[in-house]
Amino acid sequence: MPTIEQARDWYPNDDPVHGFDHVLRVYFMAERLSQAEGADLEIVRAAALLHDAGDGLAAEAGDHALRQGHHHASAEFAARVLAAEGWTQERISEVQHCIRSHRFRDDSELPHSLEARVLFDADKLDAIGAIGVARALAFAVRRGQPVYAPPSEQFLHTGKTQGDEPHSAYHEFRFKLVKLKDRLFTPAARIIAEQRHQQMVDFFERLADEAEGYPAT
Ligand code: ADP
Ligand code: NI
Repeated sequence: MPTIEQARDWYPNDDPVHGFDHVLRVYFMAERLSQAEGADLEIVRAAALLHDAGDGLAAEAGDHALRQGHHHASAEFAARVLAAEGWTQERISEVQHCIRSHRFRDDSELPHSLEARVLFDADKLDAIGAIGVARALAFAVRRGQPVYAPPSEQFLHTGKTQGDEPHSAYHEFRFKLVKLKDRLFTPAARIIAEQRHQQMVDFFERLADEAEGYPAT
């Protein structure tokens, strides 16, 4: 079983969105969900520690496009790490399925095992609530995108920006974050999501109001 200490080396510590602190939060949330749902803890722990490891490799290569495929890079990296530890092919495949199916933006492989659903939910819980807001703002700032810009009608309907419309943190909220609560699989995660979702919605609605110049108070 890979340790937390080992995993620290696989992630950047200067990345507020996908750094090691994100992995640790997902790891502890995934443990909590596993206990509530009866998932295989060893599979879930390994998957949580390895789930974004391919992202660091992509960042090292300086390639943003690679981030799109980071779950595949992470799954391959996971197989190498676990094979070196003597894991069976069957259990390695279970971990790889968790990693490959954890992306919201790629629904070509949906999480069908309980362990994959636990990892998916733990990762998505970290994209909503106060932490989710902080990560969305950090992502936008790092990319040189505004925190708020008014989304076009086209964006609201299709998720595609129009002309030189930026993809602000508020766009990310409207396109993805607001939907996450209803995409979760496990009852334990759905309960935790309620309050986080509401706090995030309150923040982004207030952000839009203030940015548009009509705060209620
Ligand atoms: P997924 O593949 O599941 O969609 P990502 O790894 O792309 O997840 O995103 C993870 C985190 O990064 C989330 O907190 C998300 O809000 C944030 N994020 C991703 N893309 C953007 C973006 N274009 N603007 C703001 N935040 C973003
Ligand atoms: Ni993640």
